[in-house]
Amino acid sequence: MSHLVFTDSYINGEFYKTDKRFSVDDPATEKSIVEVSDIDEQGVNNAIDAAKGAFVKLKATNATSRSATLMRWYELVIEHKQALAELMTKEQGKPLKESLGEVEYGAGFIKWFAEQAKRSYGDVIPPTDDQHRLTSFKQPIGVVAGITPWNFPIAMVTRKVAPAYAAGCSFVLKPSEHTPLCALALAYLADQAGFEKGAFNVLVSENAKMVGELLTESDLVRKFTFTGSTAVGKQLLSQCASTIKRTSMELGGNAPFIIFDNADLDEAVTGLMGAKFRNAGQTCVAANRIFVQRSVLDKVVKKLNEKVDSLKVAHGFEEDSDIGPLIYAKAKQKVQELLMDAKQKGAIQINAVKELGGNFQAPVILTGVTPEMDIYHQEVFGPVVSIIAFDEEAEVIALANDVPYGLAAYFYSQDIKQIYRVSEALEYGMVGINEGLISNPVAPFGGVKQSGLGREGGHQGLDEYLEEKYVCMKI
Ligand code: SIN
Repeated sequence: MSHLVFTDSYINGEFYKTDKRFSVDDPATEKSIVEVSDIDEQGVNNAIDAAKGAFVKLKATNATSRSATLMRWYELVIEHKQALAELMTKEQGKPLKESLGEVEYGAGFIKWFAEQAKRSYGDVIPPTDDQHRLTSFKQPIGVVAGITPWNFPIAMVTRKVAPAYAAGCSFVLKPSEHTPLCALALAYLADQAGFEKGAFNVLVSENAKMVGELLTESDLVRKFTFTGSTAVGKQLLSQCASTIKRTSMELGGNAPFIIFDNADLDEAVTGLMGAKFRNAGQTCVAANRIFVQRSVLDKVVKKLNEKVDSLKVAHGFEEDSDIGPLIYAKAKQKVQELLMDAKQKGAIQINAVKELGGNFQAPVILTGVTPEMDIYHQEVFGPVVSIIAFDEEAEVIALANDVPYGLAAYFYSQDIKQIYRVSEALEYGMVGINEGLISNPVAPFGGVKQSGLGREGGHQGLDEYLEEKYVCMKI
């Protein structure tokens, strides 16, 4: 196995072993890849203390040197791209070509924030009288703690840790227990790049409750950042209230994908394939409800069916695999239950029904989906295209917005007036117009309503780790 496989938590620049161990499994074979040690309470507290110590050192560094360290981290991640991608396919299951893409995407956040580190400008405020000079400048928040999910084991880590380090903050990370290996490899490479000891600690644990409580309730942790479900995000937010922490929450979505009758239908279907089947549909920004204007419904379904038919569902290491396994058995069971409920309530599966073994789920196209079905309201997190026909623009906007979520939305149209109207009317943090893949380190990623708080990436991503200090001087 790769030289980048580590099996213990990483605290203050050293691996921290415990006797309690658990298995990290390959979702494709459901066999163990490796056993890792499960952190204890002492380890979590050690990591917070180490991060506190590192913050004192980081506060004394300047932005140019942190930028150079981040740039070395970026170069090391790119140098080890193949090994990291293979590790990702092993523990997460996604096809190797997608893993290679994610390493590039994840490294992109490190590079972007290496550049942005040098740009945390303050303000000179025009004074209101002759006796005062007013300024404001930005300082790092302090110790940051974060919890990241299994669907993007590298990119979700780098888009939190890189801006935190750029700002001058230290970090305690708990990656998903399903994908700790990529996070440990990233921490090792950060260490090689010259991160100060304790600047980036990784806690491996199956006991998310214990780790989450210690991190959210610690007074030493000044900022908490989470990517995951809305239900867990609400719980963590309430725990953060006891110490009034700054928080960033990147939570669930229920993305509408709207195809208007004037759209380029070939492009719309290609865009839908990307927005739906990336990572087997296991993304927060996945197209979840596909609204197609009734006059082009048959054409869209036919084109889609042809493309879906050519998708290869296979182990991520198999050549030409387009869709890997779902992350674990419960995830597949949830998709199957949603399908059963939708079909019982009248949805029709357009493509052939294929039962695959293990955690593999064949892609499904459903038409006739309605708001009475669970699949309309829940994030599917699987390769299912749920199609809903609509007649009018106003009707589809009302349907698109009528959910508690507001992360990503997509629409295809060639009418410029409609493009302005619809992009303004959609209550979402991100909108793809004639594009199904919108994630980019240089742009602000995040949601409104119950999809979260704050933005990651873009110049906004750095501000999430900075406090603004106003200085009023009498002269
Ligand atoms: C997510 O699913 O949470 C992130 C997806 C992305 O960065 O594109």
